[in-house]
Amino acid sequence: MRRVLVAGNWKMNTGREQALELASGLVEQCGEPGTVDVMIAPPFVWLEAVAAVVGGTAVQLAAQNAWCEAPGAFTGEVALEMVAEAGCDTVILGHSERRQLFGDTDELVGRKVAAARLAGLGVILCVGETREQRESDETDAVLTRQLLAGLEAIDGEMAAGLVVAYEPVWAIGTGLVATTDQAESAHAHLRKELALRYNSDVADATRILYGGSVKPDNAADLMGRPNVDGALVGGASLSVESFVAIIKAATGV
Ligand code: 13P
Repeated sequence: MRRVLVAGNWKMNTGREQALELASGLVEQCGEPGTVDVMIAPPFVWLEAVAAVVGGTAVQLAAQNAWCEAPGAFTGEVALEMVAEAGCDTVILGHSERRQLFGDTDELVGRKVAAARLAGLGVILCVGETREQRESDETDAVLTRQLLAGLEAIDGEMAAGLVVAYEPVWAIGTGLVATTDQAESAHAHLRKELALRYNSDVADATRILYGGSVKPDNAADLMGRPNVDGALVGGASLSVESFVAIIKAATGV
């Protein structure tokens, strides 16, 4: 049985004070281990301060990105080792904003995923189609391409604990949410591809999150579908109230 995971991607939001307030509010309400895994991904600069708040609680910490080389001359980048030392056990890779705005290609995402696993970090690998790709019936092909490129260097053993996030680009930050049928169909497709790439054990064990305008009022329906194992939440993770409401919605599924 896959444990539900609700992860909050704060993106390039929060000042230091808001980050600490969010983290401590969350620890207050979800700090004890429960039936749902809870994770937050603050901006790099607040990771260590947030780690001090969530350390020792059930709230897990992730980075939103990292560079795939060992520490060295890469001005402006953050190494996976640094992310781990700052208190993260997971890194989000291949987010569509990275792909669209910062040049993260399929191939680069694959290198990052491999480096993250070698550094002992968990990975949330994001995949998702644009509106144009959906309208021209390319959704499944795009998801397959992004998934397989992301996992290019990952064998069955390294795939253990991997999390995939299906985030349709057209649903991110737009208020447009995938229908539960659209989400379920994409997730089932991704799980089938995982079974083909590895085997049914890996496919059955891999959690596939939905992301894209998840809110307290649509979370339960989305996570109620058999192949939707949780949510990657953007905007609604920036308030303790709405993020906790989504976590509570997940508890009932
Ligand atoms: P929103 O929940 O703001 O649509 O963002 C989704 C997302 O990109 C999470 O990674």
